[in-house]
Amino acid sequence: MPFPSDTTPDTEVLDLIDREVQRQVTGLQLIASENFTSPAVMQAVGSALTNKYSEGYPGKRYYGGNSVIDQVEALAIDRVKRLFGAEHANVQPHSGANANMCAYQAVLQPGDTVLGLSLDHGGHLTHGSPVNASGKLYHFVAYKVTPGDERIDMDQVRELALQHRPKMIVAGTTSYPRRIDPAAFKAIADEVGALFMFDAAHIAGLIAGDAHPNPVPFADIVTFTTHKTLRGPRGGCILSTAQHAAAIDKAVFPGWQGGPLEHVIAGKAVAFFEALQPSFKEYAQQIVRNASALAEALVTQGFRLVSGGTDNHMMVVDLRPFDGELTGKEAQAVLDLAGITLNKNTIPDDPRSPFVTSGVRIGTPCVTTQGMRESQMEQIAGLLARILRQRNESESITAARAEVATLCGQFPAYG
Ligand SMILES: Cc1ncc(COP(=O)(O)O)c(C=O)c1O
Repeated sequence: MPFPSDTTPDTEVLDLIDREVQRQVTGLQLIASENFTSPAVMQAVGSALTNKYSEGYPGKRYYGGNSVIDQVEALAIDRVKRLFGAEHANVQPHSGANANMCAYQAVLQPGDTVLGLSLDHGGHLTHGSPVNASGKLYHFVAYKVTPGDERIDMDQVRELALQHRPKMIVAGTTSYPRRIDPAAFKAIADEVGALFMFDAAHIAGLIAGDAHPNPVPFADIVTFTTHKTLRGPRGGCILSTAQHAAAIDKAVFPGWQGGPLEHVIAGKAVAFFEALQPSFKEYAQQIVRNASALAEALVTQGFRLVSGGTDNHMMVVDLRPFDGELTGKEAQAVLDLAGITLNKNTIPDDPRSPFVTSGVRIGTPCVTTQGMRESQMEQIAGLLARILRQRNESESITAARAEVATLCGQFPAYG
């Protein structure tokens, strides 16, 4: 029986997809949590695997017909365990937020105390924000960055751990530009008898590419997203020690989710394969080199960087020394007009609200995937500064828009 869209193509959606592709390829994508995944990953995600129900796990499904699906999921599990050296992996979480909630459900009881980085200092909503289920179900206590060097205050983490005796300590961040030391967190967790969970959502690709320390040997549980620096499909993943394997699997299904997205799991398997190749190390290291180059060039342009720089794929820019009137909200909007996409971001102890902010967050995964290098980072910093300085001159914005499109044309995102 023909599908209605065979005879009447859904031009509304097709046009919107075309327009979004145009936006992606003609503009600079500097959102730190985004990336361009490979054609092979997109092929898997767009495959017939979307049509199969497979509640359960390989070899233990509720429905028939899963012999091939079992192999897809087993392959993804095997590859990700090899990639990170983990004892156990669950590749079913639909997203990073789900991965975190499943991890909590596996080892915590409602009301248990957990330490996590404060949202306004770089933590994630799922690390105990009161508007998120994590903050409603569990008693999160927030640690912060120091007022001086704006790095995670490990003395405070230890003090809070001794004071509150948490069941678990969560490390991992969403807008924090520095290296996180898993061994230091593990030492504190051991001192107070807490579990240690590392949310590697942002830096999974940097870890896979040996550009950042691997938390797996130190943490009871490691969660991450597959779509950021790891350059896979949109989704989540949980790694754990063998000790927590059964509890993690039970928390994901039937605890938190229903049928897994096996087409996405196939995409994850492809991404893990790609990350296992030697060339991925060079990619991960280039992301970091590009971020350092962009950070240095931004400082030269008069911006202040939170913590003074970056060790990873992102930087948080304090706009105030550049222009005291300029908010993150306005910067995001004006840069959007010029084809540069980034996001407003609070800086630690931001006097402005999270909807306005005094900062922006900038990341280099997308532009690195496109093949840009240090010299393009300098060009991007120059463009950013010029657009923001001349933000009230529409001709200047139009000229910058053309320059951005020319630059992106030299580094096609989709080949
Ligand atoms: C540290 C951290 N954890 C979890 C998440 C949630 O991931 P998702 O958006 O896939 O739910 C993010 C997303 O940005 C993140 O940065």
